Amino acid sequence: MKATSDIAIRALGLTKRYASGRSERTALREVNLEIPAGEFWTVNGPSGSGKTTLLGLLAGMIAPTAGEVHLGGRCISHLRDSHRALVRRHAVGMVFQEFAMIPGMTLEENLHLPRVPEGGPRRADRDRARALLDRFGLTALAGTRVERLSAGELQRGAILRALLGDAPILLLDEPTASLDAENVARLLDLLVGLRNEGRTLLATTHDPRVVNDPRWDGVLRLADGALVS
Ligand SMILES: Nc1ncnc2c1ncn2[C@@H]1O[C@H](COP(=O)(O)OP(=O)(O)O)[C@@H](O)[C@H]1O
Ligand SMILES: [Mg+2]
Repeated sequence: MKATSDIAIRALGLTKRYASGRSERTALREVNLEIPAGEFWTVNGPSGSGKTTLLGLLAGMIAPTAGEVHLGGRCISHLRDSHRALVRRHAVGMVFQEFAMIPGMTLEENLHLPRVPEGGPRRADRDRARALLDRFGLTALAGTRVERLSAGELQRGAILRALLGDAPILLLDEPTASLDAENVARLLDLLVGLRNEGRTLLATTHDPRVVNDPRWDGVLRLADGALVS
């Protein structure tokens, strides 16, 4: 086992049950995992196996029924909601499967949505967004309404937004789901580049184009809510 400080993401006995009416569905059961800092891991598993639930728990967006999540050696599972939101934003960036962009707003406006509850982006946020737009080849599209962007552009925009808080951990839910081959290759290069800068990445996928890429460091397999080796 590695020292705590070398582990970016740790889950202990992580369990999630969803209640719907009188029935319950166990989406994740007793998951234990450790992702070393600075590595790029994937989570594979068929639809319904619990991948999105796992990411939501690791990001602190949903609360576990049992178990704990530690990010950078710090347990986020027993914090009060308001505090957890703060810790979460500085610890982890999340890229949602459907990009979670609001139509009718420009790409740049969408990038700063997470700051709206705090009164909008600060100067430093705007500067950082511009630098990342430039790096991701999106500067010319900053003022374009998001419904006019291609899937590849939206995906890069969603990753850019997740990086704005400069969190050391990036979680991505099925990042290649709507991309063609050229954009998959570009995305994988981008993710490997972020890993090589020292970030820790965890991406769910059941896309063979990702699974067969030799550059990730480790893989977790989920079946019916449980990790299988
Ligand atoms: N909010 C929810 N309420 C009730 N059941 C849910 C909810 N989210 C997911 N589930 C169920 O939990 C299981 C795992 O879902 P999910 O984590 O989305 O899997 P995956 O991302 O691998 O497709 C599925 O059976 C799904 O129907
Ligand atoms: Mg899913």
